[in-house]
Amino acid sequence: MTYSNILVEYHEQIATVTINRPKALNALNTVTLQELSQVVHDLANNSSIRVVILTGSGEKAFVAGADIAEMNTKTPMEARSFSQLGQRLMNLIESLPQPVIAAINGFALGGGLELAMACDIRLAGENARFGQPEVNLGIPAGFGGTQRLPRLVGSGRASEILLTADLFDAQEAFRMGLVNRVYPKEDLQEQAMAMAKRIAAKAPIAVQLTKSAIYKGANMDLISGQDYEAEVFALTFHTEDRKHGFRAFLEKTQTEFLGK
Ligand code: CAA
Repeated sequence: MTYSNILVEYHEQIATVTINRPKALNALNTVTLQELSQVVHDLANNSSIRVVILTGSGEKAFVAGADIAEMNTKTPMEARSFSQLGQRLMNLIESLPQPVIAAINGFALGGGLELAMACDIRLAGENARFGQPEVNLGIPAGFGGTQRLPRLVGSGRASEILLTADLFDAQEAFRMGLVNRVYPKEDLQEQAMAMAKRIAAKAPIAVQLTKSAIYKGANMDLISGQDYEAEVFALTFHTEDRKHGFRAFLEKTQTEFLGK
C-alpha cells in the first residue's frame, strides 16, 4: 500500500515508518494522521514485525507539530474531532503490541513531541529540539501532551514546558528523562536500527507482554498492576519460546525465538 505522506520500509522483522512531508517539517495534517493510523493498525495485525521505528524525513524535523495552516480554519467542533483523531492515533501507537522506538531527528514540537511520547523508547539526534509551543498560538496541547508529559517528566517540569512554550535541546531532554539516549545526528538511524534488532532478537511474546504490562500498569494501582504482571508471567509458560529460552540457559547453548 502506498501513502501520500507516510513511507513504510521493512528490514527483516523491523518496520521503519517515516512521516514524509519534509516541506512542512512533517507537520501532522488530517491526511497524515489518518494514514499513520492505518499504518499502525496494519502493523498491529502483522505478526512478522517485532519492532517499529518511527522517524521523520529530511534533515530538520521529526515532526514540527500539528498542521497550523490546516487548523487555522477549523470550527471548535472540527478542532475537537482533530484533537480526538490525534489522541486516538497516540493511543493506538501506545497499545500497539510491538515496541515502538522514536528516532527523533530534529524538531519534535507540539504534536511531534506528543507523537514521540506515545512511543516506548525515544532516541534523539543531538540536533533535536523539543517543546510544546501551543500557547504561542493561543491553544493548549491537543494530542495528549497535557497528560503524557507530566507522567513522563513530573508535573513541575511539564508545567514549565507547556506554559512557557520554551524549546529545549536533546541534552536537556535527556537530563529530564524525556529521551533515553542522544547520538550524533549521523548515527541516529543506525543506532535506532541496532536497538530494534536487539529487541527483535528477544522472545517476541515476552517482549509484547512486557510492553503491555508497562503500558497497562501505568494506568493501574500497584497491586492491580502486579496482578496483571503475574497473569502475563504465567501466560509465557505456555510458549515454546519460554521452553527454548530456559533449555538454552540450562544447557549453555543459544536459541532463536520463534514467537510461539
Ligand atoms: N504546521 C504547518 N506548517 C509548518 C509547521 C506546522 N506545525 N511547522 C513548520 N511548517 C512549515 C512552515 O510554515 C514552512 O512552510 P513554507 O516554506 O511554506 O513557509 C516550512 O514548514 C518550513 O518551516 P520554517 O520556514 O518555519 O522553518 P524554520 O527553520 O525557520 O523554523 C520551526 C522551524 C521553529 C520548527 C518553525 O517552523 C515553527 O515554529 N513551526 C511551528 C511549531 C509549532 O508551533 N508547533 C506546534 C503546532 S500546534 C500543535 O501541535 C497542536 C497540538 O498539540 C495538536
